Amino acid sequence: MIQEPDAFEPEATRRDADVTESSRANRGWWDRNADDYQVEHGTFLGDDRFVWGPEGLDEVEAELLGPPEELKDKDVLEIGAGAAQCSRWLTAQGARPVALDLSHRQLQHAMRIGGSFPLVCADAGALPFADNSFDLACSAYGALPFVADPALVLREVRRVLRPGGRFVFSTTHPIRWAFPDEPGPEGLTVSASYFDRTPYVEQADDGRAVYVEHHRTIGDRVRDIVAADLRLVDLVEPEWPSWNTAEWGGWSPLRGNLIPGTTIFVCERDRENT
Ligand SMILES: C[S@@+](CC[C@H](N)C(=O)[O-])C[C@H]1O[C@@H](n2cnc3c(N)ncnc32)[C@H](O)[C@@H]1O
Repeated sequence: MIQEPDAFEPEATRRDADVTESSRANRGWWDRNADDYQVEHGTFLGDDRFVWGPEGLDEVEAELLGPPEELKDKDVLEIGAGAAQCSRWLTAQGARPVALDLSHRQLQHAMRIGGSFPLVCADAGALPFADNSFDLACSAYGALPFVADPALVLREVRRVLRPGGRFVFSTTHPIRWAFPDEPGPEGLTVSASYFDRTPYVEQADDGRAVYVEHHRTIGDRVRDIVAADLRLVDLVEPEWPSWNTAEWGGWSPLRGNLIPGTTIFVCERDRENT
């Protein structure tokens, strides 16, 4: 008789997870879950739209990378691109995107949808590009929520940006770490300290991390940006729009109308080439 394997049910906990463990766990998680992610969220994201997060804020209205007509001929790095929906939109504006992701399976979805831009499988903490390669960089919930050393990623982004270049990235709003990650009313009562930076880890029976998210307070994020020698020029907290009735994990109209769910950091590298 062939024994059925136990259904794999990781344990959710809060514990430290370093750069290597976080990267390895998340590469595996996104490779295993890319198919489900694209089935669940692909329609909301659209194949060639640029959506900053579950609120549905679209770059067409936000213009955080600048006016769309000024994107023409710009070299743009998309970090944590997933199926590269944003890069497809950038191509339509006349930009030259490069879509980078840690997960091979996510990039296979990018290939399935198609597009005439390079796909690069790499970790955001070690960008495989020469200094001063890009005019712009962007990341819609890619990499920054998942890495143990966000300052390293920001330094890497600054290195590959040209002087005067801009980096815009969205992450879970830090205040959400104080609440249960539930879309309903149970997600409205504070249950943890906002100041507890201990990572959220899902681990296998043998203690091996299989998924990791890292918490930084708003102040931590600002300090990381400044320490990387980037300038913070805006911090956007998208409000939940009335047209959006969709739930996305712990993001819902109920919670979105009361507490922010996403932060978007707009940063620039100074023009002087130092
Ligand atoms: C929430 S998804 C966002 C994908 C896409 N931007 C979107 O909006 O659908 C996060 C993505 O970040 C990628 N990622 C996680 N950690 C990364 C890292 N260290 N370097 C590069 N990509 C990473 C994952 O593989 C995944 O595709």
